[in-house]
Amino acid sequence: MDTNTLSPVTSPVTRPRAVERLVQGQATSDGAGVKLTRVLTQNLQRRLDPFLMLDAFGTDNPGDYIGGFPDHPHRGFETVTYMLQGRMRHRDSAGNEGLLVPGSVQWMTAGRGVIHSEMPEQEDGAMEGFQLWLNLAAKDKMRDPWYRDIGSETIPEYRAAGVTARVIAGHTHGVDGAMQRATTEPLYLDLHLEPGARFEQPLAPEFNAFVYVYRGELVLGDQIVRRQRMVILANTPGSDGIVLTAGAEPAKAILIAGRPLGEPIAQYGPFVMNTNEEIYQAVEDFRAGRLA
Ligand code: FE2
Repeated sequence: MDTNTLSPVTSPVTRPRAVERLVQGQATSDGAGVKLTRVLTQNLQRRLDPFLMLDAFGTDNPGDYIGGFPDHPHRGFETVTYMLQGRMRHRDSAGNEGLLVPGSVQWMTAGRGVIHSEMPEQEDGAMEGFQLWLNLAAKDKMRDPWYRDIGSETIPEYRAAGVTARVIAGHTHGVDGAMQRATTEPLYLDLHLEPGARFEQPLAPEFNAFVYVYRGELVLGDQIVRRQRMVILANTPGSDGIVLTAGAEPAKAILIAGRPLGEPIAQYGPFVMNTNEEIYQAVEDFRAGRLA
């Protein structure tokens, strides 16, 4: 039996979204002095609902990462860490432990609360990757914590002429990603494009979407998007997806999209809830040792 016939047919994108704006991100540090670029900052949380944060880290200097992220709490959302280079060990208060290596992903649901550490398991060499925060719906914020280590070799890939898409979450061109989430239906692709290669992603206009370029440059419409820039795609009414093309060099970028929750967002550091009262409760629970 030809199983390909069971794959959903992907229609071409004929009315691509417009580019809304380019974002440079903010150089900052977090944890115990880890230098990083906060690409999706707090002022973009409403615009890019259900995504709360995207950090890009990338350095050859151990002094920029060696402190790591010692024990800290989370409540109310999910963290998705994708390593490109380097090794990072995570441990949490539920007794889970795992090692992130190049090409692997850790997907962690903080739910009602977890305390964890994320520490480099190397003293020299490059460390590069991303951490994305995906919000949980109000009904799911206090669920049990959960996590999954996703090995690089288990991440499905879609291949076409000049294109490899690593499908971390969601679906593309009939390929199911490593992770699916019901409410927000997140799409998380790592795109590797040969010079001039074109990639299309069908997407409903109500989904919020952005692209971060980490090698080479991309062309979207008449806009050139250079390395280390994020582009926010407009929710153009009547649009049917995203079209992007690599420039004259090989390009790599992550493409992220999701269905907005449309719920109030209350954040205090590592706690993201819907109301200030829930934030006070999270802080109180943490202080009382109820997150461990
Ligand atoms: Fe964390």
